[in-house]
Amino acid sequence: MARNPNWPDSVGIRAVELIFPPQYVDQRELEVFDGVSEGKYTIGLGQSKMGFCTDREDINSLCLTVVSRLMERNSIDYSSIGRLEVGTETIIDKSKSVKSVLMKIFEEHGNFSIEGIDTTNACYGGTAALFNSVSWVESSAWDGRLAIVVAADIAVYAKGSARPTGGAGAVAMLIGPDAPLIFDRGLRSTYMRHVYDFYKPNMDSDYPVVDGKLSIQCYFSALDNCYQMYCDKADKMLPDLNQLHWNVSSFDSLLFHSPYCKLVQKSLGRLVLNDFVRAQKVGSKESYVGLEKFANVKLEDTYFDKELEKELLAFSKQCYQVKTEPYLFMTNQIGNMYTPSLYGGLVSLLLIKPVHLLAGTRIGLFSYGSGLASSFFSIRVSSDSSVGSKLDSLIKSVSHLQEQLDSRKKVSPEVFSKILEENEKNHLLVPYNPLSSVDDLFPGTWYLKHVDEKHRRYYERVPL
Ligand code: ACO
Repeated sequence: MARNPNWPDSVGIRAVELIFPPQYVDQRELEVFDGVSEGKYTIGLGQSKMGFCTDREDINSLCLTVVSRLMERNSIDYSSIGRLEVGTETIIDKSKSVKSVLMKIFEEHGNFSIEGIDTTNACYGGTAALFNSVSWVESSAWDGRLAIVVAADIAVYAKGSARPTGGAGAVAMLIGPDAPLIFDRGLRSTYMRHVYDFYKPNMDSDYPVVDGKLSIQCYFSALDNCYQMYCDKADKMLPDLNQLHWNVSSFDSLLFHSPYCKLVQKSLGRLVLNDFVRAQKVGSKESYVGLEKFANVKLEDTYFDKELEKELLAFSKQCYQVKTEPYLFMTNQIGNMYTPSLYGGLVSLLLIKPVHLLAGTRIGLFSYGSGLASSFFSIRVSSDSSVGSKLDSLIKSVSHLQEQLDSRKKVSPEVFSKILEENEKNHLLVPYNPLSSVDDLFPGTWYLKHVDEKHRRYYERVPL
């Protein structure tokens, strides 16, 4: 695509912050408590720990915390922010945006001129907000300032099979030019449809209505469609000299929206299946030993084909271990954070991959939100990994996360279940004073102090 001379260069992510609740429930203990067979959550879903919030944290407080920490940790000038938007599906007010609550932070510094509001479609809202902010930086409306994108959610399910796939957290990303993580310009694909796989029609409850099997089918079909469209575009825009057609080898890391780790492992297998199907279509000579007997499959007939799935998992094992599995770290430790889930993968990558191995690589990302909205896009990592470079600083800014994860408090499934029951009872109750202690909250956490009889919420902050 021809370059517009007015576009700034290297638009992407300049800084990032991730926060999560200070308590979790252990998935092995949850298996026992729920009376399911041993290994169902830990091996079958691939999950170890699930973060959850007490009544001290809500969507506003999570977003206040993540934005405050992003600004402080990176010493960002409050007047340098010209756009701020939030992707979330955790709704506590049908009119007033979470973004408007975040203005609290900027008002104190005299900045009232910040574009952007909230975007909602299940786990995809953060990606929509990200695309909006990148577009803003590249548009005639851009005034030279930076954008912040927040993806945050509290994922809770009613008692039953979906409950172990919950989680909670927030990611904030600083978007602007000259970034160390650069979006591949003009190279992304999108697939959207009208389906009821997961939705939240009941305003009196935090819990979604979910058709688990349909949601998996929708996720796989969105992945197939996005990935094929992306590869077709990439073949035209950036012919890959090493291998005539784009495939999983074109990426150094592959990150996915991650409801639970096992689904992501299967998803990487599906990318290989897509490569195989595509290779046959375009007459490529790549070798897919073991998959030959599936040469004539129709992708839409294969979502729950166990024999094919087994072959794909075996074929893609090494690729999974190198390009995806290590970066499921946050998902494995926190659970499905909904909108931040994919970006938790990106933070895991920054945390885990040494800077000299990360520099100059390409990351493929798949975002999915039920309902459904999905996109596949890619990021190039700056090749400058020298000490003090932007990439080096970005990596150092997330290095505290391992210690913070390790310092969380383990809560028994009994207490976890009770807290969720209390939250169900107190949902929409006013006036309301939260019951949980603030003692375990991490330094710098904003928390809910009080909800008055007019549903107005008041927050305070744990000192840094
Ligand atoms: N040891 C090892 N594995 C086990 C065991 C065991 N003891 N018991 C079961 N398993 C395996 C199953 O074989 C199954 O594996 P498979 O997926 O490879 O077939 C896996 O564990 C899950 O078991 P199921 O019986 O299929 O699980 P269930 O139907 O109870 O629920 C589901 C799983 C549908 C994911 C549910 O948790 C859910 O609805 N979650 C919310 C929806 C969701 O996350 N959808 C994903 C995309 S949309 C989004 O992000 C919200």
